[in-house]
Amino acid sequence: MYNAQRILVTSALPYANGPLHIGHLTGAYLPADIYVRFQRLMGKDVVYVCGSDEHGAAITIRARQEGVSPQEIIDKYHVLFEEAFRGMNISFDIYHRTSAKIHHETSQEFFRHLEAQGEFEKQTSEQYYDPEAEQFLADRYITGTCPKCSYDKAYGDQCENCGSSLSPNELIDPKSTITDAKPILKETFHWYLPLQKYEAWLREWIEQGKLDGKELHDASLWKNHVLGQCKSWLDNGLLPRAMTRDLDWGVDVPQEIEGSDGKKLYVWMDAPIGYISATKEWAKQNDKDWKDYWQSEDSSLIHFIGKDNIVFHCLIFPAILKAHGGYVLPQNVPANQFLNLEGEKLSTSRNWAIWVNDYLKEWEGKEDELRFYLAKNMPEQKDSDFSWKGFQEANNNELVNNLANFINRVLVLTHKYYDGVVPEIDEDLDIAGPRSEDEFAFHDSEYLFLFDQLHDYSQKIRRFQFRDGLKSLLEISSYGNQLLQFNAPWKLVKEDPERTKVVMHLAIQYVTLLSVLMEPYLPQASARLRSMLALEPLKGQGELLEIGNQMAEGEHILPSGHQISASEHLFSRIDDKLIEAEVEELKAKANMQEASSQVDSSLPPIKSEIVFDDFSKIDLRTATILEAEKVPKTDKLLKLSVDMGSEQRTIVSGIAEHFDPADLPGQAVVVVANLAPRKMRGVESQGMILMAENEAGKLAFVSPSEGFAKGFVVR
Ligand code: 2FM
Ligand code: ZN
Repeated sequence: MYNAQRILVTSALPYANGPLHIGHLTGAYLPADIYVRFQRLMGKDVVYVCGSDEHGAAITIRARQEGVSPQEIIDKYHVLFEEAFRGMNISFDIYHRTSAKIHHETSQEFFRHLEAQGEFEKQTSEQYYDPEAEQFLADRYITGTCPKCSYDKAYGDQCENCGSSLSPNELIDPKSTITDAKPILKETFHWYLPLQKYEAWLREWIEQGKLDGKELHDASLWKNHVLGQCKSWLDNGLLPRAMTRDLDWGVDVPQEIEGSDGKKLYVWMDAPIGYISATKEWAKQNDKDWKDYWQSEDSSLIHFIGKDNIVFHCLIFPAILKAHGGYVLPQNVPANQFLNLEGEKLSTSRNWAIWVNDYLKEWEGKEDELRFYLAKNMPEQKDSDFSWKGFQEANNNELVNNLANFINRVLVLTHKYYDGVVPEIDEDLDIAGPRSEDEFAFHDSEYLFLFDQLHDYSQKIRRFQFRDGLKSLLEISSYGNQLLQFNAPWKLVKEDPERTKVVMHLAIQYVTLLSVLMEPYLPQASARLRSMLALEPLKGQGELLEIGNQMAEGEHILPSGHQISASEHLFSRIDDKLIEAEVEELKAKANMQEASSQVDSSLPPIKSEIVFDDFSKIDLRTATILEAEKVPKTDKLLKLSVDMGSEQRTIVSGIAEHFDPADLPGQAVVVVANLAPRKMRGVESQGMILMAENEAGKLAFVSPSEGFAKGFVVR
């Protein structure tokens, strides 16, 4: 509902299949955090939920790549995400995960309810199946040539080269990414949500903010690119969408439903329900009622996401919520566009990214600085670019020269002239006012400027214009700097101490307001400034609302007589050297990645997973070759005699084309010591020697370091 007292804010649940980069941060987390911090300062009852998205092909593919189980993957990234978000001071009320029991139950309840209400259509269709792996293939498990741009590594759902959405059967020469096999089409059935049935109300709701004639949201506050994407989906006609998959990782279709065997919920059905289960868990831990946020008219739901998630949050999830009944629909979905890096697309596979966990280690204590630059540069309406140079300039010019400089000058002068006590003033004295035409001003009028800025700032944030909100904040310190420049208190104090007090008193009010307005963007600096001002830390309990009320009454927000504490610099300059090093590192990492991916492409795929017990059955020992000779009448075989410390063995090895027997005595090797003996050309071979083979088929010994080739165990 409009202007609801309760606000439920969500940030897209990140897939727990890889680390977070700055594009994720500025897309869905930083804007949400600015918004919730602001709304808390305005006294709203805000709940901010998020968590890890732990299902879907994204997870199982990663697990396969890393040769570990999906559970290990989600546990690893869930912890990394928590660290990254905590480090960047993203103030979730709960950071949950979709592997939690309460989430499985909640999403199954949704499924059961929709099924019982007859919302689904069960349909049989032919889908790609990997005959070697004996499983149906999720879209991401199929690659092939893009029909639009001929890129040969397009996925079944999308071509990352030209950005087209695809369906697997459009791919030319499809291949299973699991076994490389050519997939075959095989019949299977699934539960579909008939999106076309909801088209009419979805259109009315999105375009006009109305449902059944009732006003639900202000469509003029929705971003153009979000509305544009939704309209284009609606104009193209919605189609039934499968809400289940043939997978072995995910939320089970409830067992009692006929045909549920082997079926899991589609990850885009369960993930957004993750917002609900996270709220339930938060409510349980905090003795609240989750329904107040999801099922009450006095609750406003806002989804912060990146633009690739628009259709799921604006069409599919609302359709699921409405089909279930009893739930609020999102009030707004202020999706961001994408952030580029140094003029190029951020790319995980190319390692062209700034990873949040890395930044936190390398730039410890400069979390606000990153928040600042990302907010200033947020891709709100169109894609934007992060450059290290831009980061440095924003820090040095705006945080240091403008904001911190103003604050520092005011606090230092207050200590110098008034021993840190806010002076008493005569408000009728005029001062130099850089904004007024005749260049004279009074305390009142300049104080009013502050009130206007507060209003402007608030309006911008309410409208999800975070770049502009930040601009309003910086205008206060820019103007504050001019006020000091025009009145030059360091000179004026000798000629006219009373007017100096008016200037300083005013400047102190500016700094005080800044300490609150900074909090959503720069929470750490705001906390330090509050302590320098000897003010209570902000708790996000309506402090800004209260200040606005005080200002409206003409009351000063830091009264005369208040004693401030010692001051320190809030921000410091960043040197060229650090920035140059970052740019170099970025390029070096991307080059390394490119080099290794070129090698990788010629390497055979990793074999299917084994468990530790499989590995531990193999007894590997170090050894030294004592003698080597060719096995008569063969081209390939050498007969080796090896010293294994406690015994000598004969091993026949197919390496004659690669090595001269005369070179081998003394060679350190690794031997499979418990391989069953086998006769080769009449000679019994009592083990096997490990060799590495490069892409050209050349062989090299796997060799322990000096002093280690004496029968030691390899494990
Ligand atoms: O794009 C993604 O990273 C998805 N995991 C977002 C899910 S948002 C929500 F619906 F949970
Ligand atoms: Zn393409």
